[in-house]
Amino acid sequence: MMRTHTCGELTKKDLKKEVTLCGWVDTRRDHGGVLFIDLRDRYGKTQIVFDPKHSQDAHKGAEQLGREYVVRVNGIVRERPEGMVNKGLATGEIELIVNHVDILNPADTPPLEIDDRYLASEEMRLTYRYLDLRRPTMQKHLMMRHTAAQTAREYLSSQNFCEIETPMFVKTTPGGARVFKVPSRVHPGKFFALPESPQMYKQLLMVSGMDRYFQLARCLRDEDLRADRQVEFTQIDLEMSYIGEEDIYLLIEGLLKSVWKRVLHIDIPTPFRRITFHEAMMKFGSDKPDLRFGLEFVDVTKIAGKADFSVFKSAVDKKGVILCLNAKKSNFTRKDIEDLTEIAKLYKLAGLAWIRVTAGGKLESSIVKYLSEDIQKEIIKASGAEEGDVLFFAAGDFEKTATGLGQVRLEVGRRLKLIKEGEWNFCWVVDFPSYEWDEEKERWQARHHIFTSPKDADIDKLESDPGSVLAKAYDIVLNGVELGGGSIRIHRKDVQARCLQVTGLSYEDAIKKFDFLLRAFQYGAPPHGGIAIGFDRMCALLCGESDIREVIAFPRTKNVENPMDGSPQEWQESMLKELYLKTDIPKKP
Ligand code: AMO
Repeated sequence: MMRTHTCGELTKKDLKKEVTLCGWVDTRRDHGGVLFIDLRDRYGKTQIVFDPKHSQDAHKGAEQLGREYVVRVNGIVRERPEGMVNKGLATGEIELIVNHVDILNPADTPPLEIDDRYLASEEMRLTYRYLDLRRPTMQKHLMMRHTAAQTAREYLSSQNFCEIETPMFVKTTPGGARVFKVPSRVHPGKFFALPESPQMYKQLLMVSGMDRYFQLARCLRDEDLRADRQVEFTQIDLEMSYIGEEDIYLLIEGLLKSVWKRVLHIDIPTPFRRITFHEAMMKFGSDKPDLRFGLEFVDVTKIAGKADFSVFKSAVDKKGVILCLNAKKSNFTRKDIEDLTEIAKLYKLAGLAWIRVTAGGKLESSIVKYLSEDIQKEIIKASGAEEGDVLFFAAGDFEKTATGLGQVRLEVGRRLKLIKEGEWNFCWVVDFPSYEWDEEKERWQARHHIFTSPKDADIDKLESDPGSVLAKAYDIVLNGVELGGGSIRIHRKDVQARCLQVTGLSYEDAIKKFDFLLRAFQYGAPPHGGIAIGFDRMCALLCGESDIREVIAFPRTKNVENPMDGSPQEWQESMLKELYLKTDIPKKP
């Protein structure tokens, strides 16, 4: 070993010891001929002193040191003088007086500051990611990620789960996302798909009798990127045999409890609140509701539907809803209301009707003229409106209306500073509908994947009323972020055939598409189910970050590029030839 200790390790109990440290020169200060550097490694920083009175040679060597030089120093641990103690640093009570210094490698001036106080642009951070990762915050994030992964592995292993890797070159799997394709050299004209998740393989492992599988699985999805999405990401993916929904809830609550305990030393209370999909949409306008604050919607369809206002009337005629959000004590100005209306429009609402309760309970709004005195009174009562409140109304198709108003709710929550920081608000969203109507294709499609089991009580409605069939599907949500989701699967051929038929696929068609899984099911598939937790999202939340790139070592820009390695790269003619491919890329206008 080139060093005896790390830069985060030495304390007063090491006084007078001769030690050797290695690391990067973080900062350098000259105090009247005595040179001080902070030496940094993953473990921390140690103050190093080069005093010509102690060692002429070492001091001379130190004069050449620049930022980010890699050095090895040998010296004696001593107490820092009075007034020089840094209580914020683990090594803050000691310093190293150097006998000898070796420059292991000089360094060019870094193009960005290795300092948490000065954040470079996204482009610079990702181009020089290896330097960005030297920052203590990024090192801490990667270490927390590691601890979370280890805890998950230990917890699941303690519950009899077996970690098994599934293939990365696969046949297209039945999920919502677009998959990446890889041309086969050996089979010209054929492609592999990259797995958007190990879904079918983990189900096959249940058929294989593995009983309890897990994997920290890399998933690849050719999606447009957002703060909580990357094309390559990681799931804590698992599947279990002979279980129901309750077993999954218990297991995952235990898993998250142990991760939070180990990583943050926090006891999260369990069991988590459960909320049905319908209630989540109806009250919070989201299937991943942020329950850290209230602002629940009030359903005023019956009341407002009586008004002589075409927007409300048409919503009622089309069996839609009229939802009301009371921004309590907001005293919102016209400008606030305009901003919130823009958000509603962004989320596909035609607009946002509003009523402001001004001094003396007087109502001010563009729609008051459509509302009779009685209706006004009923609305005030139902919404509990008081002076200073602003009521917002959205009307139309249930999901669209609720979703749009849900985004308005989040912004109102932010503007009124209702979101309690430091709170961990977990909930299970349950009772999702099995199917949703695809307007474009004019047919039902599975909301989750096609192997998700309907609720036993709803199986008889599969043919007569597919829209009302609920699924044995569940999502785990934390502070308004969808952390994970899963379902109990269909394991019987007859139920699978009926479910497929709802989406217009015959069992025979499906066999062609997902032949290996359905064939496997004919040989005795145990009842099974599972879930996948978005590991990057979980780590981001644990680290207090909203962008998952802050916890991924080498992420991509929103344009799916990696400015560090230059990927994606241009295909060269020779590569295409080898794969028997020709490109036909439209010229940029
Ligand atoms: P699902 O598609 O809901 O389920 O994914 C599970 C969880 O993975 C995370 N996630 C992502 N994280 C980062 N970037 C992305 N592009 C991305 N997409 C999804 C989310 C999400 O909740 N096979 C099923 C699970 C099952 O049924 O067992 C699946 O993949 O946190």
